[in-house]
Amino acid sequence: MCGIVGYTGPQSAFTPIVEGLRRLEYRGYDSAGIALGTSNSLFVEKRAGKLANLEAALPANLPTVHSGIGHTRWATHGGPTDRNAHPHLDNEGKLAVIHNGIIENYAELKAVLQKRGHTFTSETDTESVAHLLSDLRKEHQGDLSAAMRAAVAQLRGSFTLLAIHADNPSTIVGVRRNSPLVAGIGKGENFLASDVAAFIEYTKRAVELGQDEVITITPETIEITDVHGAKVPVREYEITWDKEAAQKGGFAHFMLKEIFDQPKAIADTLIGRLSDNNQIQLDELHMTDAEIKRIKRISVIACGTAYHAGMVAKYAIEKWAKIPVDVEIASEYRYRDPIVDQDSLVVAISQSGETMDLLMAVRHAKAAGARVLAVCNTNSSTIPRESDAVLYTHAGPEIAVASTKAFVTQIVAVYLIGLKLAQVRGELSDAEVKNLYHEALKLPGQVEQILETVEPLRALTRTFKSNNTVLFLGRGIQYPIALEGALKLKELAYIHAEGFAGGELKHGPIALIEEGTAVIAILPPHDEHALDEKMLSNIQEVKARGARVIVIAAEGVEVIGAEHVIRIPIAAPLFQPVLATVPLQVFAYEIAVARGTDVDQPRNLAKSVTVE
Ligand code: G6P
Repeated sequence: MCGIVGYTGPQSAFTPIVEGLRRLEYRGYDSAGIALGTSNSLFVEKRAGKLANLEAALPANLPTVHSGIGHTRWATHGGPTDRNAHPHLDNEGKLAVIHNGIIENYAELKAVLQKRGHTFTSETDTESVAHLLSDLRKEHQGDLSAAMRAAVAQLRGSFTLLAIHADNPSTIVGVRRNSPLVAGIGKGENFLASDVAAFIEYTKRAVELGQDEVITITPETIEITDVHGAKVPVREYEITWDKEAAQKGGFAHFMLKEIFDQPKAIADTLIGRLSDNNQIQLDELHMTDAEIKRIKRISVIACGTAYHAGMVAKYAIEKWAKIPVDVEIASEYRYRDPIVDQDSLVVAISQSGETMDLLMAVRHAKAAGARVLAVCNTNSSTIPRESDAVLYTHAGPEIAVASTKAFVTQIVAVYLIGLKLAQVRGELSDAEVKNLYHEALKLPGQVEQILETVEPLRALTRTFKSNNTVLFLGRGIQYPIALEGALKLKELAYIHAEGFAGGELKHGPIALIEEGTAVIAILPPHDEHALDEKMLSNIQEVKARGARVIVIAAEGVEVIGAEHVIRIPIAAPLFQPVLATVPLQVFAYEIAVARGTDVDQPRNLAKSVTVE
């Protein structure tokens, strides 16, 4: 939830830290702070609100120092105030700590530390770590890394922690448990951050960290140890995208750029997946044909937007591979008794790979003996690392909090899984698989076509800017897209929006319709005539009660009763959701802009939710 950056090297540390925080602001943005290591003391500043508030508060004659840590916060314990902003300090003001996650036993620690004479100044769970580390550092003769190892043994919960001490300011020590932390290796400089985006401008050499591993960086060295102090090999990997991918590229917002990135993202996720003899290539599954044939059930688990991709997976996998699929919100999964065993395949979908609700569900499924396949967009993140296999989507960095390109690539990835399972189990012939794969390859061009003709929709959308309620209707495989359209609108424009299966309308939601209520209806794929007719009746029902109706329909499908029809190209029926998604993203974006909300960083949200 929070963004974390540490820097040590020859540069004036302020620049890489603040630039890094700017790239991580998507993770949380209700306060920000820095601690810079001057000789024998720390320069600390922190402010409620966005990073800009912190920058405005900094003195013009900021000391030039060469190491420091910085933080953007998404509040858990204690409101978003200056006092609760990170870094948090020990009594002497010489040791600073920043934190992402939750220290579950902070109250116990605080009580003990207060008895030992420590004075607390914030309501956060984090401050107890600063005081604890301070005592432990003294016990370990000033060795901050040893102190961190000792602290970790006493902490419960999830955390990424970075600490710096004024006596040795060029050394920064970090640790992670169930929360992200990566290191960047530069030339004579090193970095620590929640996400590689923070340091991509300076280096493409990244280092991953395991659970409870403590990392110590100086300008020239990186050392990783386990909790017992034994050295752990440095696991380096190369970042495959460049800094332009994490910039707006001339668009007004990251979200708009990411909407327009979608043709490439879909193409990158699909590319090279069919062999010359028409076999779907998904070696990442790490499953033999015999193992694939043994699967008796599939559970898809995910949160938020990714959950809607999971719903699409159900339709596609059941239709093609004839395996029963259930889809569940990850935060609910482990709190009931899900039926899961060695014959189950659990598919965990996540853009960030860090969502705590999903991570806990993955662990539950693994403990029950299931094989877990992650579908993820972020390399080397926690969920893929803890899963048996991972299929990466290739959407590139997604910075806007509301997901767009990651969502469509998640759908494309589950199509590939469905096709693979169906082919191996003999439910689809090689010719059918080849045909479907070639249909999927048309999706990037079709999305492009929608984006080229989106202007009239943008103008029309603005006329809905004052609506208080917008309802989205879908049937069949477009039902998840109705839910996604509503979620996007809630997230971005703070409008009450609901998605419904068209058939459910008459069982209650129709009571919401009044004069001027906006209803966006997504017609089922063009060849589902029976459903089509039902949906057209649903449209008449809401129109008769005064709704303003926009319809999304494939080219050539006859539509009666709509104020406006948005046409999408004809794709294979199960692929239509990818296309129907795009106008709904534009709709939410445009209303948000018209209402003046913060498109890329909507209120109260965070992109990577690392608490349960
Ligand atoms: C947060 C974000 C949502 C996102 C969800 C799942 O709630 O605000 O936009 O869909 O997390 O994130 P994930 O990274 O697991 O896909």
